[in-house]
Amino acid sequence: MSNKIQAVKGMNDLLPGKVELWHQVEQVLREAAWSYGYQEIRTPILEKTELFKQSIGDQTDIVEKEMYVFEDASDTSLALRPEATAATVRAGNQHGLFHNQQQRLWYMGPMFRRERPQKGRYRQFHQFGIEAFGWTGPDIDAEVIRVGARIWKNLGVENIRLKLNTLGSPEARERYRHALHQYFSNCRDQLDSDSLRRLERNPLRILDSKVESTVALVEAAPSILEYLDEDSKRSFESLCESLTQSGISIDVDNRLVRGLDYYTSTVFEWVTDQLGAQSAVCAGGRYDQLVEHRGGRATPAVGFAMGVERLVELIAVEQKSSTDEFLDAYVISLCGQQHAVDITERLRDAGIRACEHCGGGKLKSQMKKADQSGASFAVIVGEDEVATQSVQLKILRGEGGQEQIKREQLVEVLVSRLP
Ligand code: HAM
Repeated sequence: MSNKIQAVKGMNDLLPGKVELWHQVEQVLREAAWSYGYQEIRTPILEKTELFKQSIGDQTDIVEKEMYVFEDASDTSLALRPEATAATVRAGNQHGLFHNQQQRLWYMGPMFRRERPQKGRYRQFHQFGIEAFGWTGPDIDAEVIRVGARIWKNLGVENIRLKLNTLGSPEARERYRHALHQYFSNCRDQLDSDSLRRLERNPLRILDSKVESTVALVEAAPSILEYLDEDSKRSFESLCESLTQSGISIDVDNRLVRGLDYYTSTVFEWVTDQLGAQSAVCAGGRYDQLVEHRGGRATPAVGFAMGVERLVELIAVEQKSSTDEFLDAYVISLCGQQHAVDITERLRDAGIRACEHCGGGKLKSQMKKADQSGASFAVIVGEDEVATQSVQLKILRGEGGQEQIKREQLVEVLVSRLP
């Protein structure tokens, strides 16, 4: 009996027909990053588990429950990366990228989190992210957010809004942490079990709870606004002003905390109501202490990552985007395969996307394949055409039609007729 092995739960195959839209989206993302002077960095998919524990925080959902961790043959604990900020910092420190330098970096690739899969939430998913290292002021925070806004513009995404908050200076955050600890301790008996666990180590994360009874408590909890230091307030106001001047509407949300521990001051999320429960398409913020905490020189930093699956789904929902024809010409020879091969290679030399018929057969069956291929043109070589050094060019889409043309003119004719 055959045993059909299926893909790992929450990990998706990306099939022809869908992958074309991914290419378009990836191209827009790369170009947006380049247009702001960001350079690409690629880091390994596997890192030492310790890196994520120390960077993301060992009390976070990601580290506590969601990482794919295993020991290799030399007993080193390794993890599939659940995100790329920690690895970017690790690589920057390791290669001296932050030493007396400012860096604008971007990355794109697969990430892994063992979450409960549902629409928009997968165990292997892809992130595109940017990280700016070495600037303190709110102008770089505004730039990072503007890169996101430009991407929505270039992709024609409209149903998306910016939620913005500040967690203040580390001292302000500590004061707030203390206030929250006191507040939630007083209603300890009403907290869900996850929140109870978070109470001692990281009460800010209780603000993120989705448990109904806890959400009610969160609504009445102290607000970060009461604990902000003057510098953080000024910086946040200046960020809001800069974004408003760029025409970006802001939804200030003082309950916005993030699921990763490295954030300091600015935090933000771009959310949509088009994707059901998984509404965050892009999220990020400042993490001014991470480089130093990972052994580098104190280097302020800010960045974001967006979920490419969510972005592609959003575009599909909003635009029902159609993809280009992927093949220009399908070449058929009734006088031996070599004629088809020669012609097709010449078309490819000219940048025309072409496919030659393989497997022989009568003209009718070869034409059927040409039609099914999705190509715009069929190029047919029969005995007459070989004798006269010509081809039949048949239009497969729209009005149709067929004509005989000289072989040496084929490239020129096709180039002039292709969009
Ligand atoms: P994050 O909020 O964990 O932040 O993830 C960023 C984005 O990745 C989310 O807004 C979402 O679009 C996407 N995402 C996360 N988990 C999944 C999943 N299981 N399935 C599909 N998409 C998902 C970070 O990862 C930070 N490193 C962002 C950052 C960069 N902060 C500063 N720099």
